Amino acid sequence: MKSESTAERILGSMSSESVSTRNQEWWKRSAIYEIAPISFQDSNGDGKGDLRGLIGRIEYLEWLGVGAVWMTPVYPSPMLDFGYDISEFCDIDPLFGSLADFDRLVGELHRRDIRLILDFVPNHTSDQHAWFNESRSSRANPRRDWYVWRDAGANGGPPNNWLSRFGGSAWAWDEQTGQYYYHSFLVGQPDLNFRNPQVRAAMADVLRFWMRRGVDGFRVDASAVLAEDELLRDDPPNLKADESTPPPQRLKRIFTDDRPESMLYLEEFRQVIDEFDARMLAGEVQGKTDRIGHFYGEKKPRLHLPLNFALLDSPWDALSLQANIDAYLKAIPDKAWPCWVIGGHDKKRIASKLGQAQLRNLAMLFLTLKGTPFLFAGDEIGMEQVEIPREQIQDPFEKLVGGFGLNRDPERTPMRWNGERHGGFTSGEPWLPLGADLLERNIKRLRDDKHSLLWLYRHLLQLRRQEPILVDGEYVPVRSRNDILVYKRADRSGEMLIALNLVHEPRKLHFEGRGTLLLSNRLDRASGAVECPSLLRPDEGIIVKLAH
Ligand code: NOJ
Repeated sequence: MKSESTAERILGSMSSESVSTRNQEWWKRSAIYEIAPISFQDSNGDGKGDLRGLIGRIEYLEWLGVGAVWMTPVYPSPMLDFGYDISEFCDIDPLFGSLADFDRLVGELHRRDIRLILDFVPNHTSDQHAWFNESRSSRANPRRDWYVWRDAGANGGPPNNWLSRFGGSAWAWDEQTGQYYYHSFLVGQPDLNFRNPQVRAAMADVLRFWMRRGVDGFRVDASAVLAEDELLRDDPPNLKADESTPPPQRLKRIFTDDRPESMLYLEEFRQVIDEFDARMLAGEVQGKTDRIGHFYGEKKPRLHLPLNFALLDSPWDALSLQANIDAYLKAIPDKAWPCWVIGGHDKKRIASKLGQAQLRNLAMLFLTLKGTPFLFAGDEIGMEQVEIPREQIQDPFEKLVGGFGLNRDPERTPMRWNGERHGGFTSGEPWLPLGADLLERNIKRLRDDKHSLLWLYRHLLQLRRQEPILVDGEYVPVRSRNDILVYKRADRSGEMLIALNLVHEPRKLHFEGRGTLLLSNRLDRASGAVECPSLLRPDEGIIVKLAH
């Protein structure tokens, strides 16, 4: 990327060595914006978003100020699982466009100093992938061992009790060759056999293929489940499970998740990433806070950014948040770079949990904590869970394990660009409904209102670029009291105080010293002196530059 970014200009006074480190580590200062292209912008009226549609919306991404886009899979796929069932790793599905469209997308993003991260799905392929067709054709096929094949158990049933995450046994019987194959997810998503070095080499080449096309990094899908126990030991029961627990979660995944071999394979991926300049590896780690740390690696590096969902999972009160932030920061290695995810294509929209009034505090929180922020397209306009009529359900999770509230369609609905028919997303019939609150929450409406949540995102993203302390400054906890979550960011240049009133009533803020208001999340207060005590209005959050 040749053009000089705003951040680079701000850093003009730094030594060239530290500037180059910062360029290498662009992912520390960029907010990462997840886009599911199928739901972003349709350009050909088929009701599904595509790459040309996305290219037409880059102006918006630049206006908003995100530093990178993470795109969910756009590879050829039968689309049984939102494109996570891939039948060819090095191509683009015609639904989304072509490789030429992809190259244009990379060029247009880079021209505006926006990086592109792809979803990398190494754990499994579609059962329509040529590798699997070969593998299942005979036991003697050279690719037989590219997947996980086992004989039936003693009773003629599956080899052990492992469960698919999408319901039922994780083993599928293949009549022709008389063996079972393993699938962590759908029957149509057979797991690759990562113990086979040829598989690892082939997947490393997939990474190289996309990096040569200019991709800046990857989000590794299901990175915790690449290898399973070689002895096929049965998983024990989950003693916390009861009738309300979805059946796939009624065993503890001791022998399928987080195996030491999976960690070695992540180290290998990282080596491939490091063959290229300034690339980044994030990853889905499928675990709670206490399981995140080892994904960073110890002697050998693994992921730069194992995704952290602590804010999504935390109860929304000052004491719980303060504790969960602390627990996460303690759980990762000392030198690890944190990250904070507030939405995603598998996660219920947080707006439906917090309510609109607190979304401004959420924005201020995850964009001022130390670490890389991740948001999902639509979070910046407060998109909520959209009700999906039964006959329109698409998600296989809901179809296979219905009735447990697992449907992921409600968070995957199309982006609303304006209040017109189908929100400006498509001229055809959208693949999922847009939602009843379209008129209230759409980009045009919020972009026209300079006090909106969308403008708050824009201001916060700008502030992160202007104030290096918000990127590199240390996170300094402050004792939170009176329903106000408080912390500071500090570096040699000074300190910033962030105070978020987490209730719908006014609260008095006490802090040491005095300072200047940089931003109120209501966007209606001029910058000016802030003294202690200070009154925060209901749901108000502020950023104060402290005077020394
Ligand atoms: C994780 C992805 O985020 C999810 O959407 C998908 O269903 C599974 N991996 C299977 O690939």
